[in-house]
Parts: sequence; structure tokens; C-alpha cells
Amino acid sequence: MMLGQTRILRGSRKAAGGAAAPLAKSGPRPVVVRPGLHTAPQQSHLVHTKPTVVVRSSATADKASISQTNGVEQSTSPSVYSFGNLNVEEAYDLERNDWKTTSLSVVVVGASGDLAKKKIFPALFALYYEGLLPEEFHIFGFARSKMTDAEFRNMIAGTLTCRIHARENCQEKTEKFLERCFYSAGQYDEAASFQTLNGRMGEVEVACGKPRSNRMFFLSIPPNVFIAAAGGAADFCSTKTGWTRVIVEKPFGRDSASSAALGRGLAAHLREDQIYRIDHYLGKELIENLTVLRFSNLVFEPLWCRQYIRNVQITFSENFGTEGRGGYFDTYGILRDVIQNHLLQILALFAMEPPVSLAAEDIRDAKVKVLRSMAAVRLEDTVLGQYRSRAVAGGKTLPGYLDDKTVPPGSLTPTFAACAMYINNPRWDGVPFLLKAGKALHTRRAEIRVQFRHVPGSLYKHKFGPDLDSATNELVIRIQPKESIYLKINNKVPGLGLQLDTTKLDLQYQAAYKAAELPDAYERLLLDVVNGDKRLFIRYDELEAAWELFTPLLHEIESRKIAPELYPYGSRGPVGAHYLAAKHSVRWGDLANDDDDL
Ligand code: NDP
Ligand code: BG6
Repeated sequence: MMLGQTRILRGSRKAAGGAAAPLAKSGPRPVVVRPGLHTAPQQSHLVHTKPTVVVRSSATADKASISQTNGVEQSTSPSVYSFGNLNVEEAYDLERNDWKTTSLSVVVVGASGDLAKKKIFPALFALYYEGLLPEEFHIFGFARSKMTDAEFRNMIAGTLTCRIHARENCQEKTEKFLERCFYSAGQYDEAASFQTLNGRMGEVEVACGKPRSNRMFFLSIPPNVFIAAAGGAADFCSTKTGWTRVIVEKPFGRDSASSAALGRGLAAHLREDQIYRIDHYLGKELIENLTVLRFSNLVFEPLWCRQYIRNVQITFSENFGTEGRGGYFDTYGILRDVIQNHLLQILALFAMEPPVSLAAEDIRDAKVKVLRSMAAVRLEDTVLGQYRSRAVAGGKTLPGYLDDKTVPPGSLTPTFAACAMYINNPRWDGVPFLLKAGKALHTRRAEIRVQFRHVPGSLYKHKFGPDLDSATNELVIRIQPKESIYLKINNKVPGLGLQLDTTKLDLQYQAAYKAAELPDAYERLLLDVVNGDKRLFIRYDELEAAWELFTPLLHEIESRKIAPELYPYGSRGPVGAHYLAAKHSVRWGDLANDDDDL
């Protein structure tokens, strides 16, 4: 790395005092900073000095520690999240940021919304807290709601939590972070609103003293205003002295045609290299680990093919319904909301051929190739479900999907779907990939389950009885909760005689890495955007290939008004899913009782 050039390294997390330290430790619960603790200044449209907040305790070390942590080129101490001495910077061929001369402005468009409050501000704070944002960064909220800077800061303060105990500067860090937050109200389709925002950003950037600025926009708004807002940001708020990047949240259209229209709309204002299409499942720890698991362990890659793998199951379940998001959900349904993006992305990463390198374009080339080797999903290989109400103890009733007031009466939108897909290439020919996702099921869980073939000519066959399937090896990658990777193996029960048992080689993240809490997916992905690392973002041709697999099915379901099978809230989903699995000679592994204790 050249002198004066720094990048923020993923995996090198620095603690508040500048010393590298594990981010999360077991111990006291994180402190939640509540709104109303901070007295913020009056909003000014001419900010030449940094705003101040009333600091409740005497904190003087923060500024120094921030610049130390951001001037650092590489962490020298091990962190729970870094892998040995792997130099992330060299591994991925990335554009370099020069934070000595450049500031970073992050604009959250739709700053008053659910996602901004729930995920984006907490993730930005976590990055700041760990010293992973540049010395001079600023956050701008933009939305139609009227708010002063002070009100905006109070709103954000209500969303922030510190991962470690308050004695480790939580309060001071929070206040320093909030000082960097500004708000500008405006309309998403109005040039003047973005010009005002641009003026405000310029003032703050000039006041911070860095001659250059990089700007990133997070479009956290409903799809109907995506293109207008992307245009406003690109046309009126692009920086003249650095890069401008725009993060777009799913849904990326409703089918191939609408996705193409969205793509054209964005392309009218932005180059493809400026667009970051987020699929937050790709930012989850175990999904990022997939390529490491597969390509850096001799024991896995040789088995990763049709000769040894019988089927692959990628499943997502939530133990709550659409509560509060029924309006949005009803226009999309579970196939578009979860399967066509989150689960299909996992499938592509899981099944791709080894990429030429770890560079973003090589990984995305490999993913696109898998998607293009797949046939579109057929209705006969799909099961649809919708949750209905269920009476529970105490005279209470758990509401059905149609009981949600934001859902149109009689809606046929599926809240559950399972489908079987095949990859037509030499590695995976004939191996069923079963994708299943549902809301209001019995548990919250996301995982990949790989069922291996039976041992040919097994000497112990007689010990397993007629049900050989239950005695085959199974690799489970538990994405959430309780992140873990385990391999089910057959073992001799210790003692005299010969009794066999199925047990687990078990890697529980919490125990192995002493990590009480892993970074949220949005932290990883936001940091990637800062670093210009596109490995975990979806390229346009990937999106096109993904829509081609689901568009015919979606159109058929809608034109034929296919009624979903009802399942009770809190159940294991519709019975049809079992028939689907049986048709493809698969048994759902996640429904086996022995896994419920994990
Ligand atoms: P919200 O519905 O909360 O909308 C965000 C903001 O957009 C609102 O605060 C509102 O701000 C503005 N807005 C809302 N409706 C309209 C409208 N019809 N026309 C113009 N502006 C509107 O969305 P979320 O925060 O939940 O999600 C943002 C984006 O992220 C969406 O695309 C969503 O699909 C996606 N997403 C959300 C997830 C979540 O968990 N919430 C998860 C994954 C993706 P104001 O009125 O102040 O302008
Ligand atoms: C979103 C979906 O993309 O992912 C939601 O729109 C779903 O319906 C959510 O609840 C699940 O994300 P996570 O990270 O909580 O598993």
C-alpha cells in the first residue's frame, strides 16, 4: 500500500481505545441508548463548524482514537473476525480510498423509514464504534417527513445499541456519532430538494477540512420512487471530487420485464459500477464463509458434486407473520420476497464452479453461470401455502394472513413456498435443490442442508434397519440463529457390543469464537460499499438470470389464480411440501425432531 493511502479493512476491528480487540465478548448485555439523552443544536443551514452535543461525561480521548484507528493500515492483533494473517486488501483487487484527504458522506434516502431505523443507522453506528469509518464521515438523512437535525438525531439515538458495556465509551461514542448526523427534508422526485441536500452536504464537507469527498446513497424507499430518487441523487448530488455510489434495496422489480425497466431507469443516471444491489443474506457471516469452507478445505470440495451429494435443501422460516408489512408483502409474496433473491443467491454461491479468483467479477461470473445452467421453476415442482389463524391456549387466536388489515380481502398471495430446482451441468446433473421459505411457521431458522448418498456396500447396513436415509451423512450450515456448521456422522456408541448412533461433528460459532454477537449483515455490506468491494452485491446479468428462472412460474400462478394451501400459524407448513419432497426422493431434514434442540 502506498504511503498516505488507506483502506478500511474488513476483519480488522479496532476497539474504542485504538487497540485491536475482539468486538464482542461474553459478559454484560449491550447497553441500549435511549432517545432523549442528547441535547442537540438548533438546525442550521450554514454549518461551518461541527455541531456540538452536550456531553454528559468528560470524554476527551475519542477524537484521537478515531483518527488513530482510521489511519491504521492493517490490524496487527488477531480479532475474532479476522482469519489468521489473511490480507483482505491483497485478496480482493480493489480501488483504494485515500481517507487522509477525503471525507465520506452517507445519505440515507428514506431516513424516516423502518429499514433505516432498524438496520441502516445501527449498522453505521457499529462501524463507527469499531473504528471502521474514516476520520471524517457524515450521515445525511433525506425523506419527505419534516424534521430538524435535533429531531433526526433523537430518532437515530433510539435505534442505537453498543455491543460492549457502557464503561467502554458507549455514551461518548454515541454522542460523537450523532454529532455527525444531519437531516434534509425533500421530495424524492424534485430537483430542488436534491439541490438543497447537495448544498447542505457541501457545507458540511467543506467545514470538515478535507479537500475531497466520497458520497454513498442508500435508497431505502419503496420501489415506486426508486428511479426518481436515484436520478435526483446522481444528477444533483454526485460529488465532483471522489466516487458516488448508490445502494439499491430489493425488490428489484416484480418480474423480468419490470426488473429490466428498473435497470434501464437506473442506467439512465448511473453507471453499473456505481450501483450496489443489496441482498442482505449475502452479508450474513455463514454465507460469506461458504466459499472459505468449500475452497479452503480439502475434505469438502471433492465431495461437492452429484457423485456424493443426494440433495441440497435451502430453507428459511420465520415464526411470525407479516405483522406491519402486509401491504408491501401482498404485492410480492414469499417467492419474490425471499426465494427468488435470498435463497437463490445462496444456491448460486453454494453450487458455483471455483471462480478464477476472489475478485468480484470472477465470483459473479461463476454465479451467473450456475443460474444460466438452471431450468425455470415449474408449477408442478412448486407448493404454495398461506397461513391461517390458529387458536392457542388462554382463549387467544394467532391471526391468519387475511386477518392483517393491510392485506386485501381474499388475497391468494403465498406466505409459504417450496420448489425443486435442478442444475443442468456435469457437477450437479440430477441433484434436486429444494428451496423452501415460509412465514408464521413453528420456528425461526435459515440453513443449508446437504444430504449425502448412502455408503455403497456398507458393512454396517444391517445396523440401520430399513431407513437408510436417516443414517446418511448430512452437512448443515445454520445461517441463523445460533450460527453453526455441523456434520452428522455415524458413530459407535462407547462401550461393549456394537451399537451405532448418529451424532454430530459440531462447530458452534458462539463457543468456538467467543462471539456473543456477530456483525449484522448490513454492517458488512455497508463497509463493502465504502471499500468498493462488489463480491456480495448482485450484478445486473445475475439479476436477469434470477428473474428468468421465476418469471414464468409467477405469471402462471397469477394468471391461473392458483390458491395456496392453508396452514395454521405456528405449524410446520403445508402438507404439500412433504409430497413435493417425496416426488424428488427427498426428506426434509429441518423437520427431523432431533434437530430441534440446536
Ligand atoms: P418504508 O415503507 O418504511 O418506507 C421508507 C420511507 O419511504 C418512509 O419512511 C417514507 O418516508 C417513504 N415512503 C413510504 N411510502 C412512500 C410512498 N408511497 N411514496 C413515497 N415515499 C414513501 O420502507 P422500509 O424502510 O421498510 O423499506 C425500504 C426499502 O427497503 C423498500 O424498498 C423495502 O422493500 C426494502 N426492504 C425493507 C426491509 C425491512 O425490513 N423493512 C427488508 C428488506 C428490504 P417519508 O414519508 O418521510 O418520505
Ligand atoms: C427481507 C424480507 O428481505 O428479509 C422479509 O423482505 C424477511 O420479509 C427478512 O422477514 C428476513 O431477514 P432476516 O435477516 O431477519 O432473516
